[in-house]
Amino acid sequence: MRVKGKKYRTIWYENNVVKIIDQTKLPHQFVIKDLKTIKDAVNAIKTMEVRGAPLIGGTAAYGIVLAIQENRGLDFIKKSSEELVHSRPTAINLQWAIHRMNNKLSFVKSDELLDVALKEAKLICDEDVKFCENIGLNGLKIIEEIYNKNNKTVNILTHCNAGWLATIDWGTATSPIYHAHKKGIPIHVWVDETRPRNQGANLTSYELNEENIPNTIIADNTGGILMQRGEVDMCIVGTDRTLSTGDVCNKIGTYLKALAAHDNNVPFYVALPSSTIDWDIKDFKNIPIEERNSEELSHIEGKDENNNIQKVLIYPETSRSMNLAFDITPAKYVTGLITEKGICEASKEGLKQMFNK
Ligand code: MRU
Repeated sequence: MRVKGKKYRTIWYENNVVKIIDQTKLPHQFVIKDLKTIKDAVNAIKTMEVRGAPLIGGTAAYGIVLAIQENRGLDFIKKSSEELVHSRPTAINLQWAIHRMNNKLSFVKSDELLDVALKEAKLICDEDVKFCENIGLNGLKIIEEIYNKNNKTVNILTHCNAGWLATIDWGTATSPIYHAHKKGIPIHVWVDETRPRNQGANLTSYELNEENIPNTIIADNTGGILMQRGEVDMCIVGTDRTLSTGDVCNKIGTYLKALAAHDNNVPFYVALPSSTIDWDIKDFKNIPIEERNSEELSHIEGKDENNNIQKVLIYPETSRSMNLAFDITPAKYVTGLITEKGICEASKEGLKQMFNK
């Protein structure tokens, strides 16, 4: 997608270096950062310079490339894979990408490792772009249906950032929006701020602005009243891990939005590539939920009147806070899953049929 009119992907490889857009600096600064070592890749995932399930997967794949550039020894690659897998626990794409890279590399001769790893990392990223584009084309049908019925601007609510910045390009939840906009369907997006890290305000609103898509940032608790007032036609969110049962793990607060949507008969869709499906865990209570540093809650960062980025404490100095990063929306609250293959029911049967599992 575009930044100041120029097309970008969120990650690419150039002159032995992995290039990323440092998302901790957005929306105030657009900074391209070099990752040169496996440590850089692990750190970029941990500190959320890159984030969003598909992009974490792509970064992990390129992390293996960086590890091989440093040291072709199998022990080093194994240790690097483990460090990457543990860098963030909830999004399954990370684990998925590392397994795929290691499977591809097993039985490859030492002098061919780098070449094979590079090709596979690029393939993982190219596939994600194609999958997200298809998610958009499939989700477009739902938006078109709403538009043809109401013949007025379609109001879509989204949570967190499941936009192109969370993937390699297009995004998952935003891809149907970008496709509808390209087709000339009038769209307006309600963007949940998404405390504590504000991925909605800082990233989703930013990327929609760059594509000229009308959007309004709302506090995370506003969605309910907007739905009661009939000002939300549909919700679309992304996911970090969707179980084969159709239960959806996504950014904290998604569950409450799904409950409000259910109570107000607002369709609630989840957009995902198949790399985000966990076919193994059956009970959502077994999904590892990341708990992040409580400083993300107690402090807030922004630009002061002199354009300097400042971080300030907003809570009482002695208060304790707790920062769970994800929650689970049970399948019964999900209207449908928008995947690269089509739209299916959020259920064991729906997913089984769609993916021939
Ligand atoms: O903590 P983050 O910013 O990595 O969380 C991201 C999300 O929860 C997204 O909604 C999800 O990864 C889907 S991304 C296409």
